[in-house]
Amino acid sequence: MSAIQSLAVAILILILCGLPQSLLAASPNFKQQQQAGPGAQADLDVGRQAYVANCSRCHGLYATGGDGPNIQRAPITLGNDGVIKIIKDGVPGTMMTAFNLDDAQIAAIIAYIRSLGRRNEPAMPTRGDKLKGQAVYDGNGCSGCHTIDGQGGSLGPELTQIGSLRQPDMLRQTLLDPGNALPTTRPNRDRGKWLLYTIFRAVQKDGRVVEGMRVSESTFAIVLEDAKGNFHSLSKANLRSLEKEPGKTYMPSFKDTLSAAQVDDIVAYLSSLRDSSDLRNTQ
Ligand code: HEC
Ligand code: HEC
Repeated sequence: MSAIQSLAVAILILILCGLPQSLLAASPNFKQQQQAGPGAQADLDVGRQAYVANCSRCHGLYATGGDGPNIQRAPITLGNDGVIKIIKDGVPGTMMTAFNLDDAQIAAIIAYIRSLGRRNEPAMPTRGDKLKGQAVYDGNGCSGCHTIDGQGGSLGPELTQIGSLRQPDMLRQTLLDPGNALPTTRPNRDRGKWLLYTIFRAVQKDGRVVEGMRVSESTFAIVLEDAKGNFHSLSKANLRSLEKEPGKTYMPSFKDTLSAAQVDDIVAYLSSLRDSSDLRNTQ
């Protein structure tokens, strides 16, 4: 056999032995092929867990966006390789940092993102009854501070699409122990880099104290919104001190006022409030 012939035989053997599986895994269709096989649902569950743990707080539970952009179609527009590169390297100078995830986790995350929008993703599983939850919401003054579909107050964040942004456990935690993990975005208002609901305590040189959430801040002034929704514009030159009050929030705890079943119901209701594009079939 000539050298060329033996090389050709060697290549043939490699192909038959399935070496190109790894190459195949990098092709844009690899997940569709894998999904056809057994264990596809298990893969998606792994992907969902990894996605929720690492990505959902910025891109939303269903990848329709939040602090970060909608990435439901990113595997299609950027390709698997493009998404892999972004996950590994991040986007310098943005909140999209590099993630230290192994290749299997990244592949599972991409498979999960691809699965969204293709089927009408059901809301995250919850224990409660959403209709009862809506009644609990209406009966406990929530709308005094929160807006849903244009109805309600604005001291707290709008909840119209909260089910797309937060997983049920986080909603439950906010109801029982608010102030623990303050949301960073405030839909309908300017988005800032800071924790928008952090309460500040400003002591003025004349001794007067103003407390409120930071609405805006410059080198010379800060604007605080107090518990009643009044705005205070304070010149920094007039301040004796300005301090954050970590853990403090205007969101009351419902730990002692709602039963466990009522909390489950309200979580089911809030989880059902979703961005309509979650349900749109993007394929
Ligand atoms: C702390 C917030 C944050 C987290 C967490 C986060 N991202 Fe991002 N991501 C962003 C932001 C902001 C951008 C937009 C960057 C820019 O301006 O180009 C982005 C961009 C992207 C893009 C590019 C979108 C496009 O169309 O260009 C992809 C893909 C992406 N993220 C995937 C992920 C995945 C997958 C995870 C989890 C492993 C993740 N991100 C976690 C904030 C985040
Ligand atoms: C006195 C005003 C007030 C009332 C009443 C109130 N909230 Fe809040 N809520 C807030 C504020 C302020 C925040 C933002 C700070 C925080 O998370 O603690 C918040 C945060 C939340 C969040 C988290 C939003 C996010 O983006 O993660 C949820 C969910 C929520 N509230 C639901 C409710 C429900 C349900 C009720 C009624 C049972 C209720 N709130 C009653 C002021 C209020």
